[in-house]
Amino acid sequence: MSTNPFMKMESINKSFNGVPVLNDVSLQVEYGEIHALLGENGAGKSTLMNILGGVIESDKGKISIDGNEVKMTNPRVSQKYGVSFIHQELNVVSDLRVYENMFLGFELRNKLGIVREEEMCKQTNEILATLGVDIDPKEYVRELDTSYKQLIEISKALLHKSTLIIMDEPTSALAEHEVERLFGLMKNLKGSGISVIYISHKLKEIEEVCDRYTVLRDGQVVGTGDMKEQSLDALTKLMVGKSISEERFVQDHVFGPVALEVKNLSSEGLFKNINFTVHKGEILGFTGLAGDGRTELFESLFGYRNRYTGEVKINDQIAKINHPKKALKAGVGLVPKDRKENAIIKDISVIHNMSLSSMGNFEKSGLLQGKVERKKFDYYQKMLNIKVHNPQVTIDKLSGGNQQKVVIAKWLEVNTDIIIFDNPTQGIDVGAKREIYQHIVSLAEQGKAVIILSSEAPEVRKICHRINVMYQGEVTARFNGEDATEDEIMSYATGSKKEGENIAEYTT
Ligand SMILES: Nc1ncnc2c1ncn2[C@@H]1O[C@H](COP(=O)(O)OP(=O)(O)OP(=O)(O)O)[C@@H](O)[C@H]1O
Ligand SMILES: [Mg+2]
Repeated sequence: MSTNPFMKMESINKSFNGVPVLNDVSLQVEYGEIHALLGENGAGKSTLMNILGGVIESDKGKISIDGNEVKMTNPRVSQKYGVSFIHQELNVVSDLRVYENMFLGFELRNKLGIVREEEMCKQTNEILATLGVDIDPKEYVRELDTSYKQLIEISKALLHKSTLIIMDEPTSALAEHEVERLFGLMKNLKGSGISVIYISHKLKEIEEVCDRYTVLRDGQVVGTGDMKEQSLDALTKLMVGKSISEERFVQDHVFGPVALEVKNLSSEGLFKNINFTVHKGEILGFTGLAGDGRTELFESLFGYRNRYTGEVKINDQIAKINHPKKALKAGVGLVPKDRKENAIIKDISVIHNMSLSSMGNFEKSGLLQGKVERKKFDYYQKMLNIKVHNPQVTIDKLSGGNQQKVVIAKWLEVNTDIIIFDNPTQGIDVGAKREIYQHIVSLAEQGKAVIILSSEAPEVRKICHRINVMYQGEVTARFNGEDATEDEIMSYATGSKKEGENIAEYTT
């Protein structure tokens, strides 16, 4: 490693409305390294990167590239210095074609000002080929999977000949094999001297792909060094101030009667012959790879899609749910997986995002009772450790993980008897995950029937009494939570073991 870092941020300070968020933060990145930026929700990671990416200005501090001080006054300037920023919430435009996204704001034109479409497509193709991606540059982005959207962002960075790519939680929406592809790509980038700053709450990934790390805690650097010299446990301790054990959270206990029973549920092309029951007091998990059909299955049950065959019984009564309102009425709630698209309203306050779906709890004679609402928010804030100084600010001012906590609070407040969580801990740090797990377990202990959808096998193992593994729209294995090993879950989730070959014992 050269003694001269390629990128250096020194003594960066930033406050929002008088509240300090970054305090004398320094960060150094060498050529061709993958540098992990770690810290709890709200620690200041995205803010620091927004400063480097020219999205916001620091109050104080210095940035240099190759030993020269630079002022990142806006994203274009930062781009000019070789910095590309792939945001936590992807920025590609669905209604544009792939190549149009690549050249957005930098269209190639000939002398007459006419757009050079073929040339842009050609260059797009060349870059996609170096990444080993086979998509048509003229395809509309809305037709593509999320993982491709991310590849387009990376391609854009390469098009601009970036030397430093910031990736803010790039894998939170990716399936396992897509993560592997991304890592392969990052290693190639590194081989060609490009540096990556990598933000993630998934410590196993960090260990696999990163060379060095810097940990932020409450806006200050609390550690930096070589990955090889730190155990994951030690890194966690740096992040949250204590060790986190890996124990199971659920205890076996006697369940109540069946709350939800599903028989032979099918929807063409999405899922097939789904059968399960979930009891009051039980936490039932569904896991598998992206595209396994679990999200579609539960969106159907919740009434977002209404084309399915089969039978659904709630408390032993046949239920016909073809609209989310009916689901709520029948006592079924769904915490959706995509917080940006389905769960938050960006330009209303944090507190209203919490109360949005349960206004009735806060109204008296049609009038909103602000004090009651505030008291309830304070309760959830404490319980879930939501980091916000003033809940009247719009929710987009919160860090990604803290937005997710508000989404969870909203559904806890709706308080249905059957509650489905789709990917509940997306973007949540290791410490806060525990709090959410504990809360989910206590919902079950109160007698609610809980369903967890998650692509993380360790997560379902920790909090579910029973686990269903799905592959291509079908349940291929069922386990008691404690019996499921990660390897075995994976072999059913990838289709290498299938139904009929070896269904694990399933007791109720
Ligand atoms: N525009 C803003 N106005 C007010 N406060 C803000 C703004 N942007 C960020 N903050 C606050 O700054 C703090 C740090 O947020 P940041 O987004 O940097 O956290 P993070 O480390 O990226 O967290 P996460 O892991 O949840 O994404 C948070 O308390 C957040 O509420
Ligand atoms: Mg963030």
